[in-house]
Amino acid sequence: MRKQIVAGNWKMNKTFSEGIDLINQIIEKSSSVKDVQLIVAPPSILTNEAAKYLENKNIGLAGQNCANHSQGAYTGEVSAAMLKSAGANYVILGHSERRAFYHETDEKIREKIKLCLENNLRPIVCCGEVLKERENNEHFEIVAKQIKGMFEGISAEEFKNVIIAYEPVWAIGTGKTATPEQAQEIHQFIRETIKNSYGSEIANNLSILYGGSCKPSNAKELFTKPDVDGGLIGGASLNADDFIAIANSF
Ligand code: PGA
Repeated sequence: MRKQIVAGNWKMNKTFSEGIDLINQIIEKSSSVKDVQLIVAPPSILTNEAAKYLENKNIGLAGQNCANHSQGAYTGEVSAAMLKSAGANYVILGHSERRAFYHETDEKIREKIKLCLENNLRPIVCCGEVLKERENNEHFEIVAKQIKGMFEGISAEEFKNVIIAYEPVWAIGTGKTATPEQAQEIHQFIRETIKNSYGSEIANNLSILYGGSCKPSNAKELFTKPDVDGGLIGGASLNADDFIAIANSF
């Protein structure tokens, strides 16, 4: 059966020493977590050092983004191969902040997904609608379009390594969370969409994470829904106790 996953997206937070402190606190407190794959996504400057602490710890390590080119004259970018060589095994791709602030399109995200898969990195691929689209009842259409655009040309064999995160943009960092019913409805829709492209076995094995103001006080309700397989956690992942409490909410 599919894996339950709780991944912490630190975004652009923590200096080097603060980040290592947080990694160590998470490692220490993670012994209480059973049957849930924990993943941390620190800023890329911390990836390699975090990998040393996480060795043999059964906590995954993710990048927050990677370039849509394999190498070359792309000042400021970090490639999938670099993240892999630094010790990462996952990469968050297509986060709404990347789409909004760095003009990422589904096509660019698809290029990044390809590069991650070629480098044995599992992509955690984000989708989700903005508030206006939700208010206009367009969220199913928007998410379907994102999924189609991001996974076009990705084979079933490749897709087996994909994790999807549904993150309604109106819930990210706002304190507003989707209700468990709203989350379940769209997670089920995502699974159905994947089933239509890749078949039921792959769809049933796909972990679909919820993201957007997920915290210890609402994680339990969200995680009881059958198609919610965990969370992609922003703000609450910066506190080891909260992050671990979320992972213990299944
Ligand atoms: P949040 O962020 O938990 O702070 O809302 C979630 C995310 O952006 O992944």
